[in-house]
Parts: sequence; C-alpha cells; structure tokens
Amino acid sequence: MPDGSLTNSQVVAAYRQKTPKSAQLAQEAGSVFPSGIVHDSRRTLPYSIYVDRAEGSRKWDVDGNEYVDYYGGHGALLLGHGHPDVVSAVQSQMAKGTHFGACHDLEVRWGQLVKEMVPCAERVRFTSSGTEANLMALRLARGFTGKSKIVRFNGHFHGWHDHAAFGVTNHFDGTPTPGVLAEIAQNTLMAPPDSIDETRRIIEGSDDIAAVILEPTGSSWGQIPIGAEFLRELRDITQERGVVLIFDEVVTGFRASKGGAQGHFGITPDLTSLAKILAGGLPGGAVCGRADILELLDFDVALAKGFEKIGHQGTYNANPLSAVAGITALEIISSTDACERANAQGTKLRGMFNEVFASEGVKWTAYGQFSGFYFFLNPQGLDIDPLTFDAESIGHEVLKSKSPLGEKLRLALLVYGVDMASKPGGSLSAVHSDADLEHTAHAMRSAIGLMREDGELAA
Ligand SMILES: Cc1ncc(COP(=O)(O)O)c(C=O)c1O
Repeated sequence: MPDGSLTNSQVVAAYRQKTPKSAQLAQEAGSVFPSGIVHDSRRTLPYSIYVDRAEGSRKWDVDGNEYVDYYGGHGALLLGHGHPDVVSAVQSQMAKGTHFGACHDLEVRWGQLVKEMVPCAERVRFTSSGTEANLMALRLARGFTGKSKIVRFNGHFHGWHDHAAFGVTNHFDGTPTPGVLAEIAQNTLMAPPDSIDETRRIIEGSDDIAAVILEPTGSSWGQIPIGAEFLRELRDITQERGVVLIFDEVVTGFRASKGGAQGHFGITPDLTSLAKILAGGLPGGAVCGRADILELLDFDVALAKGFEKIGHQGTYNANPLSAVAGITALEIISSTDACERANAQGTKLRGMFNEVFASEGVKWTAYGQFSGFYFFLNPQGLDIDPLTFDAESIGHEVLKSKSPLGEKLRLALLVYGVDMASKPGGSLSAVHSDADLEHTAHAMRSAIGLMREDGELAA
C-alpha cells in the first residue's frame, strides 16, 4: 500500500485502533528482523497482527481479537488448528523423544501412508520442507536424465531455492534475482502457463531438458488455473520426450483430494514434492515418485549398477514429532471425507462472497477451485456480474488483483474478524462451519462499507 493511502484511511485507523499490542510487537520486530518479518508473504502494511493462539477454524491475536482463519497455516491445516488427535499424538511423542538420531517405526508408517495415498509414489524420501523437496526433485531429474535444463512456468512457486527464485513475482524474462548465479538461471527455461503450444515449442526446442515442474492446479494454488487438458498434454509431451514431469503438490497434496491433484485429475507425474498437510501442521516435506528415479538415492543400487549415488542428509528429515503429526493427519484424511468437506465449504463460500458483491453493487468476483478462494478485484473496471463472471477466463489478468486495493481489503476484513492471505485469497479447512462462513460473508459486507468510507468503491 503506498504511503498516501495509509493517511486519512478509515480502514487503517480502525485496524490500528483494534491492534495496539500488535503494533508494539511490530515495532520491536523491526529492530530484529529485516522488515520485521520472517516470511515475505506475511508482510502487511502498516503491520501484521501478532497471533497468540488458535483452535479449529479460529485464531486470537495478542489484543484478544478473534478471527475466522483462512490463512490455515499457509495451507498446512486441512484439519484446522490443533486437531485433538494430532495434539495428543504430538504431546505423547514429545515425552518419548523428539530426535533419536536413528531410524524409527514412525517414519516407516508415514512413508507407507504416502505410498498408499499418492498415485505416483513408488518410493518416498522425507525432507524438512517443500523447498527442500523441490530441490531434491530437480536434482533427481537431472541425475536420472543426465540433462541440465528444467522448464518452469511463470508465476508458479516452488520454494525459495536458487532454481526457483526468479519468475515467480518478477524476473519473468528468466534473469536471476539477486544472489542467484546466472548459470542457474540460464539452465531454467520459463514457459507461459496459458499456452501449451508455446510450452511444447520450448520442450521440443532443446535436447537438454531434464524436467518440467509445475503447480498442477495453477500458480499460487490455482490463483491462475491451468486445467486438466493442459496437464494431460504436458504429460504426453514429457512422456514422448523422456522428460521427468514433476508435480509440486506441496499445497494440493492431500487437499485437492486424498491423492492430491494427481488423484483428482487421474494424471500421474514421475515425481511429486509434498509438504504442509503431509506433516500435519509441523515442519516436513517429501519427494516421492518412480522407483527407478528415487533409486539414485540408494546405496546398494548405486553399488550394484555402478553409478555415483545422490547424497542426501537433513537433521530433521522425518523427525518423530512431524512424523507422528503427519501419520495422524493422513490417517484421518484417508479415512474420512475431510477433503470433500473442505472443498464443499470452498464452493459455498465463493458463492456467498459473490452474493455479497452482487447485492452491494461491487464488480469483483470470488473464484477458485477445491478449498481455495481468490478475489478478482477488477483493476480495469470491467462491467461484470459477480454471479456469472468467469474470472478464470481472463488468465493472467487476475494476477493484477495483487494490489494496494487487495491489501486494504485484507486489512478491512481483519477489522471485522477475518484473516486471509495477501494474494488476496485463502484456504478452507474441513472444520470451517456454516457459522464461520456466515460470519465471513457478513465481514465482507462490513469491509466493503468501510472501504466505501475510504472512497475506494463507488457509493
Ligand atoms: C507450491 C509450493 N511449493 C513449494 C513451497 C515451499 O514449501 P516450504 O515453505 O515448505 O519450503 C510452497 C510454500 O508455500 C508452495 O506453496
């Protein structure tokens, strides 16, 4: 939000009035962390809320304000905050030990669940985050094919490692962001996610392509959807060319369906990266996929076949706390309708937002798939009907919704007790109730009123 919109703003004044203790903590954080934050997407102007505790679909900040939460632990909390079974499993594991420096039975059960649930998972290797899972997936693909280049899609996020740091929010021309080697960027080809023909041209234009990696429901968990047909064609092209297809299911895994996006679409990649829901709300990640690719990590196979294995360490890989939380969460997800419930509430909430926009005469649309929602805030002022407009049809334009207006909407919703991500948008859990949705629709109506007082919307 430019400074100008911070002054004389009803929204900002109301936010400041509700959150004095958060303001104080933000001031202290400013002298500890760059920008006072520990994750770029938590940057909120004038400052973020500081959260004290959370339960189910709700969280409470240090000033005692209650919020319906659609941040959902950056998508990790399909079962909501503090699911009682996850909490008690972690508590008893805590007393038994948090790190054995040895193999343990929990990692075996956790890996077996991944194999049972994720269609491509013939073998699994745990990491400590989604960033690490993608880093290993790319290394495996390069090792397996002996080729150098990877193809990525503009806007698709695969963590913050060097091979994926550019072309997400900027540097769409494939030039490296600060600190990333030019040689790494030169070996990464950026493709347009709205053109399978151009993508095919890029893949067929080089014999040195190891892998294609993408978010299988589109960038930012479907903020810019790509669709099943695109995925199917990509599967065909990569198969024809012997290129490793990697689905980054860090968000979609165990969320789009029990088997992730690949389970939903019936399209099986060669490798998949996982994190978030995988570890039941604790830190953790995994790469899984074809046995003949994962065997590059195997000491005995490397010895027998005479190749140099890929090394892999990681102090906290499959640590017992994450493992037990992950096992508990995955067992619940595989044996209940948690994904379907979250998806159904997502459909309901998107519809409720659009009813509010239509009745308030606001030409915005809520859209999205599965348990996610996004707002198209109509930067060009198109004359649309929120109830019928197909935001997905305008492709990249929706990106432009990330704007000062979106940030102000987020603040206004916080004022009325709703927290979501800054995209602007959010994710639902299986425990978001109809009462939560009603509260949220009501908050959206109030937020629109407050924004009108700021002159952001036509009266
Ligand atoms: C699609 C996707 N891939 C990778 C990552 C990185 O995962 P992590 O934050 O666990 O490193 C994220 C995180 O938000 C993500 O959304």
